[in-house]
Formats: sequence, C-alpha cells, structure tokens
Amino acid sequence: MKITSTEIRKKFIEYFGSLNHIVFNSDSLIPSSDPTLLFTSAGMVQFKDYFLAKKTGLKRACSIQKCLRTSDIEKVGHTIRHLTFFEMLGNFSFGDYFKKEAIHWAWEFICNVVNLDRTRLYITVYKDDDEAYEIWSKILPTSKIYKLSEETNFWKMGDSGPCGPCSEILYDLGDEFGCKKPDCGPQCGCDRFLEVWNLVFTQFDLQKDGKLVPLKQKNIDTGMGLERLCMVVNNLKSVFETDLFMPIKEEFKKYISSNSENFDIYINAISDHIRAATFAISEGILPSNESRGYVIRKIIRRALRYVKLLNYNKPILYKLVPKVVEIMRSVYPEIELHREKVSVIIKSEEEKFLETLDEGIKLIDELTKKYKDIIPADVVFKLYDTYGFPKELIDEILKEKNLSYNEKEFLEIQKKSKDISKASWKGVKVVNKDIYLLFPQTKFIGYEEFSTKAKLLGIIKDTKVINKASKNEEVELIFDITTFYGESGGQIGDSGTIETLDNKIVAEVKDTKKIENRTVHIAYLYQEIETNSDFILKVNIQKRKNIMRHHTATHLLHKALKEILGEHATQSGSLVADNYFRFDFIHWKALSSDEISQIEKIVNQKILECLPVEVIHTDLEKAKKLGATALFEEKYQQQVRVIAIGGKIENDRIIKPPYSIELCGGTHCSNTGEIGIFKILSETSVGTNIRRIEAICGEKVSYYIDNLSKILSEIGYMLGTTNLEEIKFKIEKLIQENKKLQKEIENIKLNLTSQHSQEISQELNGIKFYIKHIPDIELRQLRTLSDEIIRKYEKEPYLVVLYSTQKEKISIVIRTTPTLIQQGLTSQKFAEKISKNLNIRLAGRDDFVQGGGSIIEEKPISIHTILNILTQ
Ligand code: SER
Repeated sequence: MKITSTEIRKKFIEYFGSLNHIVFNSDSLIPSSDPTLLFTSAGMVQFKDYFLAKKTGLKRACSIQKCLRTSDIEKVGHTIRHLTFFEMLGNFSFGDYFKKEAIHWAWEFICNVVNLDRTRLYITVYKDDDEAYEIWSKILPTSKIYKLSEETNFWKMGDSGPCGPCSEILYDLGDEFGCKKPDCGPQCGCDRFLEVWNLVFTQFDLQKDGKLVPLKQKNIDTGMGLERLCMVVNNLKSVFETDLFMPIKEEFKKYISSNSENFDIYINAISDHIRAATFAISEGILPSNESRGYVIRKIIRRALRYVKLLNYNKPILYKLVPKVVEIMRSVYPEIELHREKVSVIIKSEEEKFLETLDEGIKLIDELTKKYKDIIPADVVFKLYDTYGFPKELIDEILKEKNLSYNEKEFLEIQKKSKDISKASWKGVKVVNKDIYLLFPQTKFIGYEEFSTKAKLLGIIKDTKVINKASKNEEVELIFDITTFYGESGGQIGDSGTIETLDNKIVAEVKDTKKIENRTVHIAYLYQEIETNSDFILKVNIQKRKNIMRHHTATHLLHKALKEILGEHATQSGSLVADNYFRFDFIHWKALSSDEISQIEKIVNQKILECLPVEVIHTDLEKAKKLGATALFEEKYQQQVRVIAIGGKIENDRIIKPPYSIELCGGTHCSNTGEIGIFKILSETSVGTNIRRIEAICGEKVSYYIDNLSKILSEIGYMLGTTNLEEIKFKIEKLIQENKKLQKEIENIKLNLTSQHSQEISQELNGIKFYIKHIPDIELRQLRTLSDEIIRKYEKEPYLVVLYSTQKEKISIVIRTTPTLIQQGLTSQKFAEKISKNLNIRLAGRDDFVQGGGSIIEEKPISIHTILNILTQ
C-alpha cells in the first residue's frame, strides 16, 4: 500500500488546516444538531445551521465525518464501491470562499497531495453552471468536462434544506470496470468512472413545497469518500481491498473459508456491515424493531444471511468487533470504550436471528417451489414478522429467485400490525433551541452551593422573550448564575424557590431544564417580576439531597452489578429522581433472588464503609487512562468530570484505586455514608438484553420499612399472631388449603358437566375408539380427565378423544396407548384428520395431541362426526 488510510486522513486535515479551516471532530452518527434525522449521512450535517446562517462566526471548516447510508444496501458487497458506513472527508465555507477556490484546492489536493494520475480524471458540472464549467476549463481540456442534469449534479439533503449545483471529480478505473456499452462514459452509472469527490455549491434553501430560496450567503460543502480515495490512490480494484477492510476480512477467514463463487461478495458485505454495526451500537443504537435500531438490525441480519449462505451456523460477527476497533480506534477512541458491550450485543442479536433463520430459509425454499412468480403478500409478511427477515432482505432474496409480491398489500398489512407498537412509540421531542441561544450560558454553582444571588436575564412565555411577567403566570426564567441543576444525564431537574433579596418568595420553581448550557427554571409566579432584577435562588435542599443519595447509589450499584454479573453489565440508561431511581443495564436474563440480595449487600457495605466521593476535572484521555466508565449513549466533551468513590487520585494519578470511577456531570454526596441505606424494589426486563433495577435510598427506605411493617402487622392481626415465622407458616397452610378446595370445586364442576356429556366407545379394525364430548370445560380440565382415562386403558389399543365446546370454540385432546403407537398409529396421525376436517390447530407428541380453534359449523360437532372423521 502506497498511502495508508491514516496518512490520507492526516494529509487532508493538514492541507485544509493550512488553508485556515477549523478542524472539527466527527459528529456522532445520530446528528447532534438535528435529532429528527435518522443518521448523519454527510459531513455537512453538523454544519446545517451555518449554511442557513442561523449560526454565524464560522467561516471555514473541515472534518472527517463517520456516515451511515442504507439507501443502496442491497448493492453492498456486489459492487466495488458501495458501503453503508463510510468516512467523508469534507471542507466547508460559510459565506467565505466559493467555486473558484473550492475547485482549485480540490484539484491541487487530488493531483499534488495524494498524487492521483490526472490523465484519469474527469469532471462533471451541472448543465446550467457556466461558472463552474469556466473554472474547470482553465484546468483541464473541455473534452474531460461533462455537463449533466440535476439528477446527478444538483445536491439536496432530502426534501428540504441547504442545497445547490454540484461538480464531481471522477476517476477512470479503466475499460475492464466498464459496462462495455458503446456510450459508456462519466454520465454512465457503472463502476468505471468512480465518483471520488463531490463539490457542492450550496446557495439555495429548498423549501418543503419545492421552492428554491437563495441563501443569504454562498457556501461550499464538499464530500469525498475516504475508502474510495484510498482505493484509487493505491491502484486497488475495490474499496474492500483497502487497509480499512482487509484486516477484517482476514480475521473472518480465520473462522470461515469457502469455495463458494460468491465468497467475495459475502465477505465484502460482511466487512462493511460489521463496521456499521460496531459504530452504531457503540453510540447506543441497539438493534430493535423501531427507527434507528431497526436499521442496525437490518444491517446485522443481512450480514448473517451471508454467513449462513457460507454454511456457518454459529455466531461469528461479534468476533470481528475487536478488529474494527483496532483499525479505527486511533481516529474514533469512543469505540474502544464500548468494545465489549458491542460484542455482547451483536452476539446476542446473532443468536436470536440464527434461531429463526433456518425456518425462514426453509419457508423461502418452499415458496420458491410453490409459487411460480408471485407470492401472496401475507406470506411475505410472515417472513418479515415471524421470522424477522428485514423487508429489504426479503426483496433481495426474492429478486435473486425471480419472485415478486404485491408490495402495496404488504405495506398495508405491515401498517395494520404496526399500529399497536406505534401507540407506544414516543417520537423525539424537538425543542426549538434558538430562543435560549439569545442568552449567555448559565454559570452553574450548584455542585457546592444550594442558594445564590442571581440576576434575571430573561423571561420566556409561550416561546417568546418578555421583560415582565405577572402574578399567577407560569414562565421560564433564565439567570446569569444558578444553583439549580437542569435535568440532564438521567438526573431530574431541581425545584425550589425564587426570593427577593429580603427573602420574600416571588416564585416557585417546579422543574429545571438544561438547554444548550442555559439553565431554564420553570416557575410559577406569586408576584410580578421583571428582568434585570436580582433575586435569591434557593434549591429545595431535602429533595436535592435525596437525588444526590440516589445518584451516588447508581454508581455503587453499577459497580456491584459488574462484580456479581460480569463486566458486560454496563449501564444503558438511568433515571435519578428524589423518590427513587432506576438503572438500566445490559444482561440477558432475570436476576435470581440470590443475586439481588448479594448486590444489595455489596452496595450497603460500601455505604457503611463511608467512602469519600471525589470529583476530578480532567480531559477525556486522562479519564480513560484512570479507568473511568463512560456511558453508552453519551457524547463527551474534551474536558470531563469524573466521580471517583473510595480511592485517592492526585494530579491524574491513582494513589489508591477507587471502588467506582465514572464520567458524570450529576450531583453527588460527598461520602457514601450520606446515602444511609439502599434497597432494591424491583428487577424487570425493558427490552432485549436490557434489565431494569428500581431502587430507593435513605429516608425513602425508612418509609418503605415503615409501610412494610404496618402491612405485616395487619396481616399478623388477621392471622392472630405477631411472630413472622408463624405468619409465614400460616400463609403457606392457607395457600395449600385453597389449592385443595379449588381442586374439589373443579371436580364437582366436572361431575356436574359430565352429566351433560356424551360418549361413544366402539371397536373398528382392531382400534378401540373412545370419544367423549363434555360441554363448557377448559382444555386444562380435558387434559386431567384424559390422564385418568388413558391410565385405565393403558394396555389396550385405545384412541381416546375428549373435546369440549364453549360457544363457537372447540378444545380437544387426543391420546393413544402404546399398543397403537407401536403400530404407527400415533395421536398425530389422527390429529391430522381432525385438523383437516375441522380446520383447527393441533400439536403434540406421538401419545398426546391437544389444541383448539373456532367452529365454523352452525351445528355443534357430535361425537359421531368425530368418529366418522377418525375412521375415514
Ligand atoms: N453533501 C455532499 C454529499 O454528501 C457533499 O459533502 O455528497
């Protein structure tokens, strides 16, 4: 390899840095400035507000942005250039330089910095963009410049936002890559003319109604795929041959080798998909059936199908995660932090899909045989819904097999079934942050103080800034300084009071939010207030102390979970409130009561040890070196706050190893002793591989105990004892008695209904048929009854069929004795006849089948009908 991908990144940043571009880190894959977008799909996304001049001050910027696009996912692996996850090198101008500089610098970089062979380069421009055409024609012969339509040369972000004509630099890979059509050229979509760099001249704001409104300023947005550049710079034949992919593929080959003619396609797709999954999951996007999580699930499942086509039936993708991390960690250190978690999640996703993949593939094979060309939409939906095949994957497989289905019908079925889950899907609430940006950032001193004097800078009412507000209004207040903690990092916002300098309460703060580093106090006014006046802000200390107890306890719990369950048990979310806290973490099964009590014991032990809680301010790198745990979905600034419990750290050096050390911006006790006591209230599942613990601390535990003992003494009073052991014994006895009584009632009921039953017992061709109809009883009761009967006839060739009808429902149990089974006459054999004739679902074993369904017939099904069916 002539130039490594690392060197290319470095050259790009150095080149544009030397041209006064501010170097930006990659934004996360979930766009931080626009959470309504699914994924970051280009370098320009984090600069959207600068293009629209909503934010100003920045003139030039450059970045290497991690991007995710799945619009061409079905091509990934099949072509030399398509990817879902890629890195985009970009330089940007916001009302500063324009076409001339952008074109000249791009050319200079391509030809003189990474030294691409200029004779292989072609240019496309938008058909009406004479300005760009002119500039290029002074650089290379016009025979190499193509004017193309807006389809390829007018760049838009979607259906709205900054956009403009664009010019692309293409690299001719040579005839052997071409489609061989006589008119193959830069206008052709085939592999030969590879788009390397896209220069967008962003000068319009596309409105939702399709209108192009000129932007106040002219901008530049360029994007060049690192993987493609690395490929052409090194004369390679595909992006998958670059150093970004080769080590992943080598790793994969350690586990699987194959002579399959499609091996390259599969392994290329897998190496792309594992990069996408690793990056997305390390940002906290867990595979799921909704939104971003579904995209990730889709990507993983597509990779798994290829693994399966290589006849490998065990989880494997997770084994590639360390390789992805090894290749990328120097540029994106965050993936190192989450390596283990990512592996665990991918492995469990693999296990889950592998369970159903076989059956799904079998079903597809059957479909291929059964339907010549068109498959019914509901059958395709079954593949999607029951077997978890992503729709795009189904499309791809069916296309391979020359099959199709009615997509409209499929989407209708899908919509109907989604309605239920949609009801519980809360969309991302988008706050219009602009109004808060009008104020300076709030100074927060609430880590050390509970009250402070502060100047009221702004009042916001119904998304408008006002200077005065009257009594009995609910408003948002922004001060220059505050002791109120604004809801963030899972910790709820403070409440409290706002008082005049002579201590008269003027407002009650009900909640506090943190928006773009501005603390927003949501307050109910007891009297009129005006901006620019001074007030005393007083946090509700009792509430805050409970929050602090709960927050410090989450850190102790986090550590205790890892000790008892393993390192994988990391936090995936939390809510720290004053009355309780909840803590979500990764684990695949319910905790046993033993594990729960061990965890409680450890946390309480750490509380009793009265460990000091130390706060350290340092940078991200040093924090990581100290071993600080970072949260999954969190994005950290360069300067971080670290909470270390029970150790000693001086000048970023560990003097005594702490018990727990985490990055955290929340408020904490200064000593674990302040927590008082800790009690787990519940442990439940909140999603695949995510468990939730709800717990309480301090005074909440004493209320809890108080309540518990009240209830216990009431129970004791009812049972006539105060001795706990005796209470337990008496309750056990009551339960047993209750069970006995239940059984007796059931038997009485059974006897009563049996009086209305009908039965038939008949021998035909050496088989003894015993059929009984008992109206109005449950399947469970039929089973019990059948046990008794079969025991009686065990030694004889008996077929026992018991059934019950309740309104339009039928339940049925079929039993066969060993003598019949030996002759091959199993319960299943008879069940098939019944299923077919009565259209009901039955399942079971050789000696026992049960099931039920609806009766379509108007008349009740008689024992003779059943006998007829069985003897047909
Ligand atoms: N926004 C353009 C693209 O994505 C250039 O960065 O191609």
